[in-house]
Amino acid sequence: MSLKSINPTTTQTWKKLQAHYEKIKDERILDFFEQEPNRVEGFSIDWNTFFIDFSKNRIDQKGFDLLIELAKELDIKDAVEKQYRGEILNKTESRAVLHTALRQPNPNNEIQKALDQIEEITENVTSGNWKGCTGKPIKNIVNIGIGGSDLGPKMVVEGLKYYKNHLNSYFISNIDDTYNQQLLSEIDFEESLFIVVSKSFGTKETLGNAKLIIKRFQKECTQENVLKKHFIAITTQKDKAVEFGITGKNILPIWDWVGGRFSLCSAVGLSISLTLGFNNFKELLNGASEVDDHFLNEKYSKNIPTVMALLSIWYNNFYQAESHAVVPYSQYLSEFVPYLQQTFMESNGKSVDRNQEKVNYQTGSLVWGDVGSNAQHAFFQLLHQGTKLIPVDFIGFKKPLSKKDALHTELMANFFAQTQALLQGKSREAVLKETSENEFKFPYRIFEGNKPSTTILIDQLTPKNLGSLIAIYEHKTFVEGVIWNIFSFDQWGVELGKQLSTSIQKQIETKEVTENRDKSTKNLLHHFLS
Ligand code: F6P
Repeated sequence: MSLKSINPTTTQTWKKLQAHYEKIKDERILDFFEQEPNRVEGFSIDWNTFFIDFSKNRIDQKGFDLLIELAKELDIKDAVEKQYRGEILNKTESRAVLHTALRQPNPNNEIQKALDQIEEITENVTSGNWKGCTGKPIKNIVNIGIGGSDLGPKMVVEGLKYYKNHLNSYFISNIDDTYNQQLLSEIDFEESLFIVVSKSFGTKETLGNAKLIIKRFQKECTQENVLKKHFIAITTQKDKAVEFGITGKNILPIWDWVGGRFSLCSAVGLSISLTLGFNNFKELLNGASEVDDHFLNEKYSKNIPTVMALLSIWYNNFYQAESHAVVPYSQYLSEFVPYLQQTFMESNGKSVDRNQEKVNYQTGSLVWGDVGSNAQHAFFQLLHQGTKLIPVDFIGFKKPLSKKDALHTELMANFFAQTQALLQGKSREAVLKETSENEFKFPYRIFEGNKPSTTILIDQLTPKNLGSLIAIYEHKTFVEGVIWNIFSFDQWGVELGKQLSTSIQKQIETKEVTENRDKSTKNLLHHFLS
């Protein structure tokens, strides 16, 4: 059984939503607060150590009820159950979608075996027992991977750096050899463990970088020893990793039912376990697993990923908003947005529906953002006074990580101030009261307000809470995809560029640009070669 295929715009509820949107589209959120005395309670979710306030959105109770009706009409619950049961939801690749199985409290044997391997390697390396080719213990972990084999682990390792042990971690992804060499010039290869993460073990960037590193080891280490003592592989393709030269016992599995961008809870997260410790890795998994239960069992109106996805549909398909900003108020989460970009945009950047038809509505918002308060000094001007409608997720923490943090109150004051400023704006009258400047300057100081935001207030940035936050956004992506009637778990859109790059590389190497290219690309290649 696979997912139902319903064009959402043909449902009864969609039509009702459209009519309701026409009615309330210009209304102000502040007026909704006046009209709906219980809005704050109704439009918030208090779950574990998370408090989600979505009352500052441009939707009234009636509109929200209609969104819930849409979730019912499209039977989101049925889709979630099918996902968790392991049905083939990724139909274009004939695969199940089971990243939730990775973090269940009682995983199946193969998952447990991989977790045991992660624990054992973590113990061996952190205790100093794992020795390199010249007998030195490991000090550095270098993850070599790209896309889902890089972004998730990198985001978590950076996000939880406060909890790190004595090992230093590095991430090599791009094929920018100059940059990579400079980065790695800081470390001694003989004290480093390289983890080649590639689900397919066929990604050119990853394999190319790994091969260069092997070559650059000191002469005293034979290639055999380098591969045995300094290289681990994480892949579904054990044979290819063996052929590459990696020792069988240093190869950890993932499975085709784990999508690359949903894989950080598998052995793809080995660098997380190594630099934060296995217990913290398990905590991350526990946090994600608790959200998995919440997502499966909670009613729609209090179901965090479902509510966030429904609001996203409201802005994308009724307000025709094109993007969504995410602003975490923690410098540690500086890699969170790039990670989310792959989760959302590789999953839902699709235009053919589950019925092979071209969609006639918007899918896949552009996800962007940066950490606060930095972002306030960069793109917030456009959020406050620009012409575009951009819903924003504000993510903040009640407690700082360190008791000695002297600036957390200041950081969080900014966090709350921004959501209030976006909502309420500043009228001409208020500007007039404040200034004796000449009238020409007034319009530039006015803030329209009525800009939507959702506040995600979390107790503290812990491994468990980060695991929960990750799972919330994973499931939000899923619900969006179910409603948009697309296949969220394939990524055919990345293939064409890969194919063309192979033939272009050949032509650059042979200096023979053939006729079968468009005029612009041909001309650019001639310039490059000249
Ligand atoms: O090119 C896109 C992609 O396939 C991503 O989906 C994936 O996360 C990344 O490349 C890396 O793939 P692999 O883990 O197979 O090297």
